[in-house]
Amino acid sequence: MTTLIRGGTVVSTTGRTKADVLIDGERIVALVAPGDTSLGADLAGSAEVVIEAEGKYVIPGGVDGHTHMEMPFGGTQASDTFETGTRAAAWGGTTTIVDFVVQKTGERVQDSLATWHDKAAGDCAIDYGFHQILGGVDEDSLKAMDELVGEGITSFKLFMAYPGVFYSDDGQILRAMQRASDNGSLIMMHAENGTAIDVLVAQALARGETDPIDHGRTRPWETEEEATHRAIMLARIAGAPLYIVHMSAKQAVATLAAARGEGLNVFGETCPQYLYLSLEEQLGAPGFEGAKWVCSTPLRSRAEGHQDEIWRHLRTGDLSVVSTDHCPFCMKEQKELGLGDFSKIPNGIGSVEHRLDLLYQGVVDGKISLERWVELCSTTPARMFGLYGRKGVIAPGADADVVVYDPHGHTSIGVGKTHHMNMDYSAWEGFEIEGKVDTVLSRGSVVISDGDYHGTKGHGKFLRRELCQNLI
Ligand code: URP
Ligand code: ZN
Ligand code: ZN
Repeated sequence: MTTLIRGGTVVSTTGRTKADVLIDGERIVALVAPGDTSLGADLAGSAEVVIEAEGKYVIPGGVDGHTHMEMPFGGTQASDTFETGTRAAAWGGTTTIVDFVVQKTGERVQDSLATWHDKAAGDCAIDYGFHQILGGVDEDSLKAMDELVGEGITSFKLFMAYPGVFYSDDGQILRAMQRASDNGSLIMMHAENGTAIDVLVAQALARGETDPIDHGRTRPWETEEEATHRAIMLARIAGAPLYIVHMSAKQAVATLAAARGEGLNVFGETCPQYLYLSLEEQLGAPGFEGAKWVCSTPLRSRAEGHQDEIWRHLRTGDLSVVSTDHCPFCMKEQKELGLGDFSKIPNGIGSVEHRLDLLYQGVVDGKISLERWVELCSTTPARMFGLYGRKGVIAPGADADVVVYDPHGHTSIGVGKTHHMNMDYSAWEGFEIEGKVDTVLSRGSVVISDGDYHGTKGHGKFLRRELCQNLI
């Protein structure tokens, strides 16, 4: 099957150009400038499917490098399955996710990976890869790291938070980093001082401070900055690259920026919630409403200016990637577990459907350029997680994961409007976007067009990833 995307403006990290995109089967085969007849005079006449993109942007499909489908967490399980979550992702122009396999303490890493392969295989609408969470660093899991790299799992997440659940101590972290330094993999870090947070949480609860906003107050910026600094120092000792996930505190990002200034291979990720939402407005919503936005790291104070600084660091390049950390829970029976005790609210926000739109609004608002939008949402995550060439770029040979984005369209986010995630609320209710995902292709197949879903369960394939392609 041949497909021609005709008349659009192809946007890459380095610029924009008018070109038709020719697809043969699952791959892009050519970009054809207007008037270029070298491939034959009538490309449109010979293509089996023609997608009109005049006045629209043609961009590489979004790569969301941080999702948690079906993740067991906080006494329950993330409410999107691989089927519902990848379908919602496709609606929003994301054509690749990298999800997290969870190794519970005591479990063999390889067994946890087999479980996640079972969960995802045959269910996904778009392509997917895995990172591995190491819930327990010991001789076996260190050996497993080498094995997994050979199977295309080239990044490992460690937690400085959640003692008794996922927490690793500094010695364990250092050992895993040393292993990563040897086998070339990437350590991803949840950087919050979990043992200090547990003290603050217990003290707050003892004082009767039980509301959702107290989740944020007991995870102050110092706990993120301190852990960020410690993680960077440990990575420096190990000579390992480091990727810090879901950064929200401006002080932590400043620490990251300083380390990058010294030439260290350290990278930062943020998420749409840290750009738009705040401790005062969302976490502090009346009654139990704030539970909708309980996630870690927490939303930060707007009065302290974290959101503006996160936007600024997206421009400076010190933050490299915007992922969603999609970890959805319904209010009913899930977030409600924390009624009367914020520490029991499952941590997570659902956004996999809205990342491209929310970041595009940043283009409209003059916060980032069009090219930086593509870089943050697609090209850099593809590079960071060893997928570039296949994903993250519109070029001959790449997978035909393509989004036609309409800058004259409009998207109203909310339940009953655009909401395909398996959640009983939207963390983004009422957000208005001056742009719209028009058409989405995954490996040459049209998944979204004319406001309809045309994808199929099981179309998405597992991606064996290369090592990080961002390292010097
Ligand atoms: O609140 C969050 N971030 N939930 C997902 C798990 C994690 O730490 O990424
Ligand atoms: Zn985390
Ligand atoms: Zn996460």
